[in-house]
Amino acid sequence: MSQQPTAKYRKDYRAPDFTITDLNLEFDLEPNATLVTAVSQVKRLNDNATDIELDGENLKLVRIDINGDAWTAYSEESGKLIIRDVPAAFTLTIQTEIDPENNSALEGLYISGGAYCTQCEAEGFRRITYYLDRPDVLARFTTKVIADKASYPYLLSNGNKIASGELDNGRHWVEWHDPYAKPSYLFALVAGDFDVLRDSFVTRSGREVALEIFVDKGNLVRADHAMVSLKNAMKWDETRFDLEYDLDIYMIVAVDFFNMGAMENKGLNIFNSKYVLANAETATDADYLGIEAVIGHEYFHNWTGNRVTCRDWFQLSLKEGLTVFRDQEFSSDLGSRSVNRIENVRVMRGPQFAEDASPMSHPIRPEKVIEMNNFYTLTVYEKGSEVIRMMHTILGEEGFQKGVKLYFERHDGTAATCDDFVQAMEDASGIDLTQFRRWYSQSGTPVLNVSSTYDDATKQLALHVKQHTPATADQAEKLPLYIPLDIELYRADGSVIELQRHGEPVHHILAVTEAEQTFIFDAVDEQPVISLLREFSAPVKLEYDYQDQDLTFLLQYARNDFARWDAGQSLLAKHIKANVARVQNDEKIVIPASVVDAFRGVLLSENTEPALIAEVLKLPSENEVAGWFDVVDVDAIHRVMAAFKQQFADEMVDELETVYRQYTQASYEISHKAIGERDLRNTCLSYLAHTENGNDWVEAQYRNANNMTDTMAALHAANAAQLPCRESLMKHFSDQWQHDGLVMDKWFVLQGINPAEHALEGVKAQMAHPAFSLKNPNRTRSLIGAFCSRNPVHFHAKDGSGYRFLKEILVTLNESNPQVASRLIDPLLKLAYYDTERQQHMRQVLQELADMDNLANDLYEKVQKTLEQ
Ligand code: TRP
Ligand code: ZN
Repeated sequence: MSQQPTAKYRKDYRAPDFTITDLNLEFDLEPNATLVTAVSQVKRLNDNATDIELDGENLKLVRIDINGDAWTAYSEESGKLIIRDVPAAFTLTIQTEIDPENNSALEGLYISGGAYCTQCEAEGFRRITYYLDRPDVLARFTTKVIADKASYPYLLSNGNKIASGELDNGRHWVEWHDPYAKPSYLFALVAGDFDVLRDSFVTRSGREVALEIFVDKGNLVRADHAMVSLKNAMKWDETRFDLEYDLDIYMIVAVDFFNMGAMENKGLNIFNSKYVLANAETATDADYLGIEAVIGHEYFHNWTGNRVTCRDWFQLSLKEGLTVFRDQEFSSDLGSRSVNRIENVRVMRGPQFAEDASPMSHPIRPEKVIEMNNFYTLTVYEKGSEVIRMMHTILGEEGFQKGVKLYFERHDGTAATCDDFVQAMEDASGIDLTQFRRWYSQSGTPVLNVSSTYDDATKQLALHVKQHTPATADQAEKLPLYIPLDIELYRADGSVIELQRHGEPVHHILAVTEAEQTFIFDAVDEQPVISLLREFSAPVKLEYDYQDQDLTFLLQYARNDFARWDAGQSLLAKHIKANVARVQNDEKIVIPASVVDAFRGVLLSENTEPALIAEVLKLPSENEVAGWFDVVDVDAIHRVMAAFKQQFADEMVDELETVYRQYTQASYEISHKAIGERDLRNTCLSYLAHTENGNDWVEAQYRNANNMTDTMAALHAANAAQLPCRESLMKHFSDQWQHDGLVMDKWFVLQGINPAEHALEGVKAQMAHPAFSLKNPNRTRSLIGAFCSRNPVHFHAKDGSGYRFLKEILVTLNESNPQVASRLIDPLLKLAYYDTERQQHMRQVLQELADMDNLANDLYEKVQKTLEQ
């Protein structure tokens, strides 16, 4: 390997020597030679500093002036421009030339579908101009954009439009000013031709805010849901968090080429079109809900991210964990709280736990980073949100909101740290969070082991709780955490036993703080069934020796939907594990009738929300199951999961058919109730596909579908059950939609997760499909990403063919788009969990990557960590 990228450590943070108070930018847009003029007002903060070091990458330097005169005392070295002997305060003019057309990494200024756009988080601004590209340098931006008027009628940037004009030779210009000082990562520019959906929102103080959504020409009919979601988000943030929007205009631009979901640039969000465009013909219910969540997420960043930003990138969870918590609450207040919780917990227990057990394990506030793009992770985002949620659980809504208020009082307009947030929570509530802070510095998934003893004579219940966190790749020593443990006790008749001790009521959230602790409850009048870790009150693995009958009881009687679902999951987990062991011992798979009956009971339950029934009936993914084992046997897991699917289908065929018919919908409606009913109906179909008349069921649904949710449910069922109709339906769909990349993504995913023997050949063949392109991150993730991360049996083929395929793709993307490459590689990092033969194949391809002489930092960091362990 030629280069040795250097790591940065959180402990090395130093305040900047200089700051920039105001920045005037001018962009003269040309596809291959855009001229950027940046005029900064620079102030020295550290009296001992004589030189200013600016960040810059892939820039052609045209000119440097200080106070209007050419400056020659400077040098350019890898990624830096060092300007020597500068005064204490000065005007710095820097001109650079960049090449947006050849920017395939999609960071900095690039072209997506004919429009110029930017992506500056985390460190993309340095690909536009030399700058203090760090989040603790906050400047007021004024941006002038110049371009050809016919091709680029819309010229957009952050803040308010302050001037515009025409030039000769068909060019025009617009100037924008953002009154809120911001770090460079929140800068945005867009130039292009669009259709615009316009609306407005009146804030609770009576200000009218113009709302504009920019989409590709012809897509106006797909922008309504995004607009409704935006207005809902603005209203919700006023009511629930007392936060009002602060500019006169809010713009969203949808682009087809985007590395992530969306970006919260001040006043000018840029979105992956996947999270904007939807109508009944093209979008599934999941797409609608995803749009609502991401529109909300980016809007909520205006306060948690933009008004208060991060001091340094190690603090990323300050804005991301908190904003994910806020978007989860938004979705839960508008829709089904229990279904949202279930889906978030699935992500934690599946991919987040797996990440925390991988070579990339890191605390929600990382200590060491080589490539910042590698830390936009499930740990920082989802576990970060769980940590905020635990504070919410401990403080209660009122205490939490007081803390948020204090946080904004103290830090509005500044760059803050995670600790600043916790301090505000602590000061506002008076609750000591000293030990709680360990959640920010300790990585890994804690194991909470619970056992109980009941004394019939004294009517006392004792809960013995032990916690330990296994060592992770990054951290050997672990300390006890403050774990809020939410519990409930049930009598056999389903009634709840009030928690008490010495005649006093005890709160249902126990504070587990020691490595070992016992909680005693009095007046427990009968041996109770114990509901533990209700609402997944902490991101831990729970161990408790549940009997089947306890779980069946909770699945039926728990008075909280999440607890019911969770009991079902535990029941499945017990029997899945037992059967994997049986398969490995060449024994027959055994699924007791009582287990099937428990699920049948839920399927037929009349007082249960259809959306919840659907969640209960969904089996855990093979990936989640893999996470339960020290050595993953992909084939045994696959066989066991297939057997569960088949046996549930066979034994419940009549009930599944009844419920499927019961929820036939006359018309298509996008309400939470209708979405839940469709989900239940389509979950039934996923089982019916495996029964005798499966092909007829599925084909009929495909032919009769009047919305994309039902269409895709049919295709998924045909694919999973390998039905005879699969081929013709797939062809029909591709013929109908091949012009539409976003819709084709759903079809590419099906090719990626195809259970057929020849899945890899199919994936390779579809790379030649006219709708496919490795240059487009959405297409790449749909086809290649789905194969590598959601088709374990074929990706982990024993001959190593799946690994070698991924390696070839990574070699290509390493040059064109390392950020996308770095997300695709994740399944290879988990090599320690596979048998020696597979490990050898995985190690081999990782070594080949390591030996490349131009490996990008993104891949370097992950490959190196994996090979080191
Ligand atoms: N801040 C964005 C969000 O969470 C994340 C993001 C969008 C991003 N694009 C990116 C992060 C590119 C890194 C690189 O909403
Ligand atoms: Zn975010």
